[in-house]
Amino acid sequence: MKQNTKRKKFIVGNWKMNPGSAAEAKTLASAIKKTVFSSRKVAVIVCPPFPFLEIVARTLKNSLVLLGSQDVSLYEKGSYTGQVSAGMVQSFGSKYVILGHSERRKEGETDESVNQKISVAFKSGLTPIICIGELVRDDHAEYLQFIEKQIQAVFKGISRENMENSIIAYEPIWAIGKSDADAMKPHDIYETSLYIRKVLGKIYGHESAKIPAILYGGSVSGGIAPGILKEGNVDGLLIGRQSLVASDFSAIITNANEL
Ligand code: PGA
Repeated sequence: MKQNTKRKKFIVGNWKMNPGSAAEAKTLASAIKKTVFSSRKVAVIVCPPFPFLEIVARTLKNSLVLLGSQDVSLYEKGSYTGQVSAGMVQSFGSKYVILGHSERRKEGETDESVNQKISVAFKSGLTPIICIGELVRDDHAEYLQFIEKQIQAVFKGISRENMENSIIAYEPIWAIGKSDADAMKPHDIYETSLYIRKVLGKIYGHESAKIPAILYGGSVSGGIAPGILKEGNVDGLLIGRQSLVASDFSAIITNANEL
């Protein structure tokens, strides 16, 4: 059940609602592009806000950096003011989509809608990066049941083949957006990722080992990233704030490539 250290690593930058303009998005993307020329062991994915997809896609052309979105609509097209479909982001070059981020869940996303969006993503050829994670760590380990319920719900009815093309991002909500001292410790990440692999095993049997990646996210910095990748039994990282600083994000990628 332990992750194979030879597996490809994924470093995903979640820009959230940043930066403030298309010009800044272009600058950030080109700074990242310059440093990501030798990361063959690492898949680098950046997920800008919808309006910046085009400029970032154009900037990243002919680079190894891949593009993702931060969400998609449940619907293909029609009268859904303010929504953006999977087909639309795919047509801009998105290959991945973050689903069920806790900041989307705060706005009404549920396990059920995440479950439906996983199928929507696959229909448009997008790889879902499915976020799960507990709000708090209680002393009675109820968070484990919470995580299991979330995994069971988001993967409900999802075929084994689609599971084998999905990425899970474990992001304990209490660890998001803090200082890196508040991030989850590698040992605890290790235990939780084992647990996630065990729950997936309950659903898909030994084929669950074929899931391409389980990531950790929550206050990852350049300082703690190597320790998490070495000791956390995860296949990569989902990075918020530090993905907005090209030099920090690049250092994390370079380091991951050397592990
Ligand atoms: P953070 O964000 O790295 O700023 O904690 C991670 C995330 O929310 O995806």
